Amino acid sequence: MYAIEARNLRKTYRTRRRRGILRSEPELIEALKDVSFSVRYGEVVGLLGPNGAGKTTTIKIISTLLLPDGGEVYVEGFDVVREASEVRRRIGILLSVEKGFYGKLTGWENLEYFGILYGLDRRFLEARLGYLFKLLELDKLGGIDRLFEEFSLGMKARLGLARALLKDPPILLLDEPTLGLDPPSAVKIRSLVRDLAREGKAILYTTHNMFEAEIVCDRILFIDRGSIVAEGSPSDLKDRIPKLRSLKITVKGNDPSQILAGHSLGYSINRIDVDIFELDVKVRDPIEVLNSILPLLTVKGYHIISFRIEEPTLEDVFLYLSKGG
Ligand SMILES: Nc1ncnc2c1ncn2[C@@H]1O[C@H](COP(=O)(O)OP(=O)(O)OP(=O)(O)O)[C@@H](O)[C@H]1O
Ligand SMILES: [Mg+2]
Repeated sequence: MYAIEARNLRKTYRTRRRRGILRSEPELIEALKDVSFSVRYGEVVGLLGPNGAGKTTTIKIISTLLLPDGGEVYVEGFDVVREASEVRRRIGILLSVEKGFYGKLTGWENLEYFGILYGLDRRFLEARLGYLFKLLELDKLGGIDRLFEEFSLGMKARLGLARALLKDPPILLLDEPTLGLDPPSAVKIRSLVRDLAREGKAILYTTHNMFEAEIVCDRILFIDRGSIVAEGSPSDLKDRIPKLRSLKITVKGNDPSQILAGHSLGYSINRIDVDIFELDVKVRDPIEVLNSILPLLTVKGYHIISFRIEEPTLEDVFLYLSKGG
């Protein structure tokens, strides 16, 4: 049995668009067209895609916050529409880092409140809170007895994750958990997510940070305008785009455009300083090109400062797919 299984999910928002001051017209926004996927235990699945692609909508449907118009979603075998309370018991959700906490309560009081709301046993709750505040280092950051309204963004994100983990659910839905965080907080959250997957939790994760997706996610679903357009592990996906590597050469001398113009290669030139240029040449075989370009540059009197070869990244996959490639 899958932890999450979504089949042919469809969602259209019915809204109104303003036309002038007093008039508005009905508008239909097709947020999800036909989305099917599954998430296994012990796996972090990244839901990636441009703004407005349908990621948050998908997460809201799985968490029972929003009803789908068509299709089914099962969480540990329970239907999100017909068995919503069974589903809620099994998931932890982090939707937006700042929403849903009380500014005038401390971090501890906020989570205590949610724990009581979830019907958790008092003794379990106290122990769980102690564990989570330590795990997320909220104790060190002063998150226990400071008012939520005084929290930094990083503390808010950590408290959000602590709330998602309160019931120790087998399934986590994390919508942009590292948005706006400084590197130490982001690193902390990423490593925690990996640990949770290692414990066997099933995690659906969204981010706009491709580097992060590459290190956190076992598998990636690319969603674009309400449809899944690609799926695979980060390395599978990178294998799928045309195998172009970036050869970057930094030289000192005059503008080298003239020299490269004759070469039938895709390239761009970046001026770094008055007489320092970085050439970015897209190639299939970087060594071969290096062998022909470096002597050419030397003969023309350029001083070569550095060169490096860059493998395609998940960002290249993203750009390639968003261009409709
Ligand atoms: N409550 C709503 N009413 C009307 N339209 C909505 C509503 N929520 C989302 N949409 C629209 O549905 C589409 C999908 O939005 P969604 O929030 O799921 O995208 P997303 O992939 O999470 O984007 P982002 O990366 O910006 O968070 C967008 O066109 C959005 O404008
Ligand atoms: Mg979103």
